[in-house]
Amino acid sequence: MATAVTESQPEIQPTPKATGRCVLVLFGASGDLTKRKLVPALFNLAKAALLPGNFAILGVAFDDLSLDQFRNEVTSFLPTDKDLEELKAFRERLFYQRGDFSDSATYQVVASRLNEMDREHGTDGNYLFYLATAPRYFGHIVLQLGQCQLAKQENGHWRRVVIEKPFGHDLESARSLNRQIKAVLAENQIYRIDHYLGKETVQNILVFRFDNAIFEPIWNRRYIDHIQITNAETVGVEQRGGYFDSAGTLRDMVPNHVMQLLSLTAMESPVSFQADAVRDEQAKVLHAVQLFDSEAVLQDSVRGQYGEGTIGNERVPAYRAEPGVSPESRIETFVALKLTIDNWRWAGVPFYLRTGKRLARRHTEITIQFKKTPFELFRNVPVKKHTNQLVLQIQPVEGISLSFGAKVPGPILRVGSVEMDFEYSRYFGTAAYTGYEVLLYDCMIGDATLFQRADMVEAGWSIVDPVLDVWKALPPRRFPNYSAGSWGPRESDELLEREGRGWRTIE
Ligand code: BG6
Repeated sequence: MATAVTESQPEIQPTPKATGRCVLVLFGASGDLTKRKLVPALFNLAKAALLPGNFAILGVAFDDLSLDQFRNEVTSFLPTDKDLEELKAFRERLFYQRGDFSDSATYQVVASRLNEMDREHGTDGNYLFYLATAPRYFGHIVLQLGQCQLAKQENGHWRRVVIEKPFGHDLESARSLNRQIKAVLAENQIYRIDHYLGKETVQNILVFRFDNAIFEPIWNRRYIDHIQITNAETVGVEQRGGYFDSAGTLRDMVPNHVMQLLSLTAMESPVSFQADAVRDEQAKVLHAVQLFDSEAVLQDSVRGQYGEGTIGNERVPAYRAEPGVSPESRIETFVALKLTIDNWRWAGVPFYLRTGKRLARRHTEITIQFKKTPFELFRNVPVKKHTNQLVLQIQPVEGISLSFGAKVPGPILRVGSVEMDFEYSRYFGTAAYTGYEVLLYDCMIGDATLFQRADMVEAGWSIVDPVLDVWKALPPRRFPNYSAGSWGPRESDELLEREGRGWRTIE
């Protein structure tokens, strides 16, 4: 994200530089994230010549693995039928250290391994520590890094720490984690990852809004009726029933991913593309979200849990029958909220958000619903009900579409609804991409634009905390309340219908 380039032709590529020499230390290296996302992303960076020659990866995990076993394990998601030479060279940059994260001896050993690696690989004492571990270790690992002098930046070398989500489980725990890690690290050494910011379409919200002059004048309460953010998944809780049954969808998706989408859509223009300029504006708009009081939680929030149902042609079990989930679970797998933002741009414009598991389609989008014309010139003409909608398609279709009314050809005046569509893949082609490439690359070049600052994380939790409190005090009475394969509980539709609106139909 560091190189801002203006491309008039899709085939013109930016020429970013390889990152500086360093060791990437992966705590939790035997987990799923490492082999499914991080190692494939690093391999893609290596193939694109974006890793420096002096670069090595040190995996740290509890498992007793030989170096060869580790290399085989973490590269198991890489294609083995092509790029063979590159794969061989990449494997040789991978190293392993067995260690228990709760034992301080582990960090002494890691420190001496890093010393050796600096000598052997010329990595100059620059270390990126990636915490892909269970969240209960985050504070402790950072503390230990501090005690072993591994967090100290001196003699021109840098030390950075990447923290995966979940960052806390409510406002208080997020604040306390921030306090713990900031006792050891400066804010500019901390990279709190939200993988939604690794998605091209999410980054494009900034370019779309702030590199095109035509949208800004209408991006406000005078022209916009409301905004909808839908983040729908068809998957259930997969192998994560244990985690999910204590977290729930509100904690899992809203303070982080959904708030990223909201802040990029609603923020003011930053004064520059520097990390703090962008994040200042994101934090500002998150702080402007009106906090729910108890009455507003009852009115403007909806929770749901899926029962059994059919998705595609597959019959799927109810949430309560998933492995690791309590058969009486009252945890939500669906959330819909109505938020308002207290500033001049958005006064009176509702933001409706919904996210859930086992819904009818995998689909994430942001719909900007514009107001109707102030006067209906064509009121006596057959009009196919249409409205001006701008839809930012995040996934799986990546693109942008704008719908508007057009005259249907023929001697009789009729108005129909048509769409102008931009699809990424048609214009730019497709590339193998995990979404973590840009994030890892940015950590290594020291660009924190796409990472969450402490105040943003806390603002996200401040928005959901009152909802968590009321929901805890009033357990749901009617769970499960939607069938797998539907669009969520009836109350989610009612949230908009009672205001004369409706969720956009997603085909
Ligand atoms: C993760 C959540 O952060 O995001 C998961 O913990 C969720 O529950 C996932 O499935 C969604 O990510 P994506 O990129 O598939 O939309």
